[in-house]
Amino acid sequence: MTEDDLDRVMELERAIFASPWRRSFFLSDINRPQGLSVVAEDEGVVLGYAVAWGTQEAHLANLAVCEDERGKGVGGSLLEEVVAFARRSKAESIYLEVRASNTIARKFYSERGFVPTYMRKGYYENGEDAVIMEREVSPDAQGVRPV
Ligand SMILES: CC(C)(COP(=O)(O)OP(=O)(O)OC[C@H]1O[C@@H](n2cnc3c(N)ncnc32)[C@H](O)[C@@H]1OP(=O)(O)O)[C@@H](O)C(=O)NCCC(=O)NCCS
Repeated sequence: MTEDDLDRVMELERAIFASPWRRSFFLSDINRPQGLSVVAEDEGVVLGYAVAWGTQEAHLANLAVCEDERGKGVGGSLLEEVVAFARRSKAESIYLEVRASNTIARKFYSERGFVPTYMRKGYYENGEDAVIMEREVSPDAQGVRPV
């Protein structure tokens, strides 16, 4: 992700999330030393993006794909980038928060080795709970679908 991607990233972010990140969040993440900000593109058009950071424990902070492009593997590819980043960072695990009601994302992560570890009550601005999901990064982790 570069600053040139931010107009399109913000367009997607606002369309997809009820509480979109501010542009300044993406900007500071682009410049974060221990971080990953990546886009998936097709012929120069941004289809999705992911943001992660952290060393021992990597945090997948944002992952989204344009609604029209879902179900085609774009999210899976972005998640692979995050896992590769975590491996490079020698992280032992990756965690994320997902809305309890977001059944599609919860299934997406479960099928890619993430397990729900606990619930953060009232985490979101509308009072909704967050489910914390986590997966090990070790390449020989048992029972984890290779990503
Ligand atoms: C979660 C998300 C990133 C997945 O992206 P994607 O490009 O669709 O991911 P993939 O195509 O690699 O895989 C999607 C999986 O969800 C399934 N899926 C996609 N759209 C679906 C739908 N409308 N209903 C049910 N399942 C669906 C696909 O069948 C696929 O399952 P599979 O792994 O068994 O094949 C995407 O749905 C998204 O951007 N959602 C909104 C933002 C969001 O919730 N982000 C995560 C916040 S923590």
